[in-house]
Amino acid sequence: MSVSDHIANRRTFAIISHPDAGKTTITEKLLLLGQLIQKAGSVKGKGSDRHATSDWMTMEQERGISVTSSVMQFPYNGRIVNLLDTPGHEDFSEDTYRTLTAVDSCLMIIDAAKGVEDRTIKLMNVCRLRDTPIISFVNKLDREIRDPIETLDEMEEVLGIAAAPINWPIGSGKEFKGVYNLYTDTIHVYKAGSRSVIPEDIRIQGLNSPEADELLGVYAEEVREELELVRGATHEFDIDEYKAGQLTPVFFGTALGNFGVREMLDDFVEWAPAPLDRDASSRQVVATEEKLSGFVFKIQANMDPKHRDRIAFMRVCSGAYTRGMKMKHVRIGKDVKIADAVTFLAGERSHVEEAVAGDIIGLHNHGTIQIGDTFTEGEELKFTGIPHFAPEMFRRIRLKDPLKMKALQKGLQQLSEEGSTQVFFPTRNNDIVVGAVGVLQYEVVAYRLKEEYKVEAVYEPVNVYTARWIECEDPRMLEDFKRKNSENVAIDGGGHLTYLAPTRVNLQLTQERWPDVEFRATREH
Ligand code: G4P
Repeated sequence: MSVSDHIANRRTFAIISHPDAGKTTITEKLLLLGQLIQKAGSVKGKGSDRHATSDWMTMEQERGISVTSSVMQFPYNGRIVNLLDTPGHEDFSEDTYRTLTAVDSCLMIIDAAKGVEDRTIKLMNVCRLRDTPIISFVNKLDREIRDPIETLDEMEEVLGIAAAPINWPIGSGKEFKGVYNLYTDTIHVYKAGSRSVIPEDIRIQGLNSPEADELLGVYAEEVREELELVRGATHEFDIDEYKAGQLTPVFFGTALGNFGVREMLDDFVEWAPAPLDRDASSRQVVATEEKLSGFVFKIQANMDPKHRDRIAFMRVCSGAYTRGMKMKHVRIGKDVKIADAVTFLAGERSHVEEAVAGDIIGLHNHGTIQIGDTFTEGEELKFTGIPHFAPEMFRRIRLKDPLKMKALQKGLQQLSEEGSTQVFFPTRNNDIVVGAVGVLQYEVVAYRLKEEYKVEAVYEPVNVYTARWIECEDPRMLEDFKRKNSENVAIDGGGHLTYLAPTRVNLQLTQERWPDVEFRATREH
């Protein structure tokens, strides 16, 4: 097989969902189908029968949440699937957002009883920035659910994407009989699988067959009528609209019951895009180009307590990586030899011999790699579109031991390079302001400062409503802006000028007063 065949076989995706919709459960089933794990239930350290393979921090184990994301690769139906796990907890959205820049498509999970929830809306907004194709899985059909038509309507209205059901549930909860595939005229009969076993695949060909009559009993006519209505009232699947991010094919099932996941995955590997072309500063990079290129979307520390280093996750955008090859670290203009890139097979580190466009490799990082960095085989190129999002919460950080200032600064600098937090230095005083997307993030930062940098710090409230990155083409105006707003300007961890607005009204007034200054809510790395 040539390298371009390998590339064409890659399917790189992430799951987007609201916490509790079933992301972890479905991940387990996908890995089971990919035969990566023998027994489902090893993804998250939550119940007693689960051992935590992707968890690395005591704190997250205690809480049963996954702070980190990892990459899981498995073969399926002749394709190689890369699943990028995203932190499920609400508080870690920035990491999640950036992971979405490294995938070619997404799987959206919706709780059939709850419908479209907050976090899904936010994540969809990020997907929309790149028109990422989305396949949907409506989960928990073994429970009492809302009318599926309502759920589809809600997806269309709230998420602004046309929804095309591929299959349709027959009953739900105790009366859940299975799903009917609208395109193959097949009923997949529901049989609850036990946790770790994929149930046998029982199919009935033809909604009008005697076997269907037998299964549906007195409901047979009603079901046929409903399906007639569904066909008339919903969108038809169109692969081009799916690939353009305008339409999502929808599958129904239950992740817990191992039902419907395989049907979804079968179509997913057929329809989902192979590694897509990527925008860079000077040109568009085509995945099948011979030379390697890639960008770093995530940096993670201490994944394995035995290896106390940091790993930079690089999405390979074109060409292939082979062990020991030289890459150019474009930002610092240096060639580096990469002998020991790693991949994470369901939590186990293994050395990569070869990786191609679409794959993710882990580079050992000793402080020289930052989020957004591009690597090439010599070309001056910079991938674009890897954003920083303005934090939504702010705290002033204060040291318990003032002599530890240096260690604190180093720790915060590194944590902000990893994207764990954002740090701001107001110009008018010596405060250090830490920005986060959620409260839990502060606890993680405090924990890591203590564990890794031996610094104890406390957080105090600070009067900041939001941050905006400042840009202005006219250097004189920029200087003027800085002087007149010295009360509220700060420099972030990457050296960029920011405006820390104390209130929403203040931000609005300042923007009106400075129409030629740009106030950005996201910053590209
Ligand atoms: P998340 O990663 O999206 O947060 O969700 P997760 O998979 O952890 O699922 C959240 C809860 O929903 C879990 O229950 C899980 O067992 C349950 N669940 C997932 N899929 C289905 C489904 O198809 N049907 C039903 N009935 N439940 C489902 P839990 O009680 O919080 O955890 P656990 O003790 O079962 O692990």
